[in-house]
Amino acid sequence: MHADDTTEWWKDGIVYQVYPRSFQDTTGTGIGDLDGIRARLPHLVALGVDAVWISPIYPSPMKDAGYDITDYRGIEPLFGSLESFARLAEAIHAQGMKLLLDLVPSHSSDQHPWFLESRASRDNPRRDWYVWRDAGPDGGPPSNWIAEFGGAAWEWDDATGQYYLHLYLTEQPALNWRNPELRAAIYDAMRTWFDRGVDGFRVDAVEHLAPDAQGRDNPPVPDWRFEMGPARSLDRRYSAHQPDGFDVVREMRRVADAYPERVLLGEAYGTLDEVMRYYGEALDGFHLPFNFHLIEAPWDPVGLADFIDTYEAALPPGAWPNWVLGNHDRDRVATRWGPQAARCAAMLLLTLRGTPTLWQGDELGMVNETVPPEMLQDPWAVNNPGTGLGRDPVRIPMPWDDGPGRGFTTGTPWLPLSSVASAEAQAEDPGSMLVLYRHLVHLRRNHAALRRGSYARLHADASVLAYAREHDGETLRVALNFSDREVPLPCEGTPLFSTIAARDLKDVTQLLPNEGLILTP
Ligand code: NOJ
Repeated sequence: MHADDTTEWWKDGIVYQVYPRSFQDTTGTGIGDLDGIRARLPHLVALGVDAVWISPIYPSPMKDAGYDITDYRGIEPLFGSLESFARLAEAIHAQGMKLLLDLVPSHSSDQHPWFLESRASRDNPRRDWYVWRDAGPDGGPPSNWIAEFGGAAWEWDDATGQYYLHLYLTEQPALNWRNPELRAAIYDAMRTWFDRGVDGFRVDAVEHLAPDAQGRDNPPVPDWRFEMGPARSLDRRYSAHQPDGFDVVREMRRVADAYPERVLLGEAYGTLDEVMRYYGEALDGFHLPFNFHLIEAPWDPVGLADFIDTYEAALPPGAWPNWVLGNHDRDRVATRWGPQAARCAAMLLLTLRGTPTLWQGDELGMVNETVPPEMLQDPWAVNNPGTGLGRDPVRIPMPWDDGPGRGFTTGTPWLPLSSVASAEAQAEDPGSMLVLYRHLVHLRRNHAALRRGSYARLHADASVLAYAREHDGETLRVALNFSDREVPLPCEGTPLFSTIAARDLKDVTQLLPNEGLILTP
């Protein structure tokens, strides 16, 4: 760790997202587990990342791959036990790395004992831990809200004669954050994990905490397109990013701040203004509300340069930026922008100002794979057959070697295997994506200008983006060629590193097609 200030390790560190189902299976179930993550830590150490964020590992009926929790303090038996968790936490810390878990506060599983009690009767003490409403005047749902995975966000419960809110699957009832006992229960769960040594949380779906208490209708979005997803056909004015939700985030932060050096990363998809609000006016919200722009934007130098400037300008004073290139919900970067662009994108992610989050497998150049209909797992895909919706293609198991099961499993993998070269083979190939990522991570670790430096745009046109990073007398320039033509180098300097492994770095005047270069002045 290179932090000037140890309490801010998350400013210097690189976060790596592990999707436990697809990382490493040690039991032959075809699904990854905690011992598997521990067995593969050498991969993360060689890569040089600082923090491991693990997607949910709690007990779950797995209707939404673990984002439907039945016990906020336990470990899903498929993944291991509290003992295997403790072994993993110890191994991660022994490498000087931090461990982040997913916290899923917006909804539980419908099998959570809290919900079973809540739906048992209207006067159950836990009734108010979830969001229950009478039918609307026409006998239908109380509002027009649409669930993220499609369909009405309200489910009728015959037994108690009311609707309950679910902003994802019907099996994911929304927790009621206006109830103080519910809040206390989740905060207790956070403390349990902090006491077990967890260094922080990535907090799921925060935009949906405490939606409008009056349940007002959302207005329609006139220019909605199918690929935006069903819920975006309405402007989520009353169901997302509500004032009480921002208060909850500040409360969560106070829970984290009672422990030293803990960090909260927030997942909220919204406008830049909405995302910025999650920092909190006094920087008393999330340390890092995820910046998902790179996941959503086209591969376009001027658009990106403009966004970087807008993002930098929008940051509240003292707030620390962050960048995300991929995650388990969105198309792989090598598929979105193409395999060549993915190399430049790696350089972009690791040379921008702000904490980078790497999505497992992007360092191997993994691509979206085709998943045959009979193997589909994601309810979003299963519930919308033939539409191409769904996230299974990005959740393919890691290809560790070229043996059976690609070294991921000795059993039948829960999703098809990857088509890209294995980590083992890539480690031996200087031109591989893995070797590129290792170099870039180490460059970032070794240059304060990349970790802490200021950012300044040098050049942006239809083909090229160039910028400078400067810290304490050290300047590095980054030039990225987004096109598949040679272009003149847009800034002066001595080349230090190229995304093209075989590149001769003497007398460079041009950027090769799709090349990224780091230069010293
Ligand atoms: C966001 C998570 O990343 C996604 O995988 C999940 O389906 C939803 N939140 C609901 O928890």
